[in-house]
Amino acid sequence: MKAVITNPKATGCLELGEVADPRADSHEAVIAVTAFSLNRGELRRAEAAAPGTQIGWDLVGLVKTAARDGSGPAQGARVVGFSRRMQGWAQYVALPTVDFAVIPDAVSECDAATLPVAGLTALYALERCERLLGSRVLVTGASGGVGYFACQLGRLMGAQVTAQLRRPDFEDLVRATGVDDVVISPDGAGLESHGKFRAIIDGVGGQVLSRLLSRLDERGRAILYGVSGGPETALAVRELMFTGDGRIEGFYLYRETEIEAAAKGLGRLLHLLADGRLTTHVPVTENWATIGATAARLIGRDFAGKAVLTI
Ligand SMILES: NC(=O)c1ccc[n+]([C@@H]2O[C@H](COP(=O)([O-])OP(=O)(O)OC[C@H]3O[C@@H](n4cnc5c(N)ncnc54)[C@H](OP(=O)(O)O)[C@@H]3O)[C@@H](O)[C@H]2O)c1
Repeated sequence: MKAVITNPKATGCLELGEVADPRADSHEAVIAVTAFSLNRGELRRAEAAAPGTQIGWDLVGLVKTAARDGSGPAQGARVVGFSRRMQGWAQYVALPTVDFAVIPDAVSECDAATLPVAGLTALYALERCERLLGSRVLVTGASGGVGYFACQLGRLMGAQVTAQLRRPDFEDLVRATGVDDVVISPDGAGLESHGKFRAIIDGVGGQVLSRLLSRLDERGRAILYGVSGGPETALAVRELMFTGDGRIEGFYLYRETEIEAAAKGLGRLLHLLADGRLTTHVPVTENWATIGATAARLIGRDFAGKAVLTI
């Protein structure tokens, strides 16, 4: 079958190639993939992977062969899934039935495809935090795949959301999520005057994060899920110390989906999409033959939100 594979010499380090068909264990269904969305994390991994490695976390498609153990939906079901083995960008993928959910009729495949990594990360990062109703939440990198969902989900959880972004071009997009406040600042400068936060959902790291740790309230939690702005940060120990109970927590989606299966989290997000309480932003939809160029555009931050490629 055809699949997206790595090639360090190709544009975006990715190209279409031939790989063996997947073999499904008894708890796995084979899905005929129709589309997928791209994430910064897997593209960065692809840059460092051995040539010929398959990649891809997010996918949508139709169940071609149901799981032999009787779990999961029947043949023909329209589903969205998270490929933990990173083999999702292929004509076919074998997925454990706990890693995918049926897409409701009211939700398009394109919208569903954006959910697995970006939507689940935003959902589970916010759910790590306590007492959000009426509390203040800061979302950094609000124009990114995860940040865009975190702004909306924070509002849905009853929080007052402040969004940080670095470029004014994406302000309208972020404001449309219903956030209460927007701070445009590439390095986080200016956030000092925006009070303290119960939760900081951070995908930027670097300089932005070093300024933020003094912004936690006495029970605040900083959930660190990404390093788009740099993997190292100076820690304001004194400021953190005086919060009393402020915490910095690492976040890794693989670990979170051991606590709640991706199928359940995706089901919850699909429900919100179906009744219009959650929206996606997909400015790029192309055929998967453009994988290298589209990956390079995403890494270069040529657009905000998500790119979806169809097979
Ligand atoms: N730990 C996990 O399980 C997990 C899960 C999901 C994602 N991640 C990681 O989280 C990060 C964000 O993922 P994503 O999919 O949301 O990425 P994305 O769609 O590419 O968004 C990146 C965001 O970071 C901002 N940004 C990029 N470079 C920056 C810089 N130098 N300084 C300040 N802001 C910068 C972008 O702003 P502009 O719009 O202005 O470019 C955008 O808001 C990535 O590092 C990804 O690998 C980790």
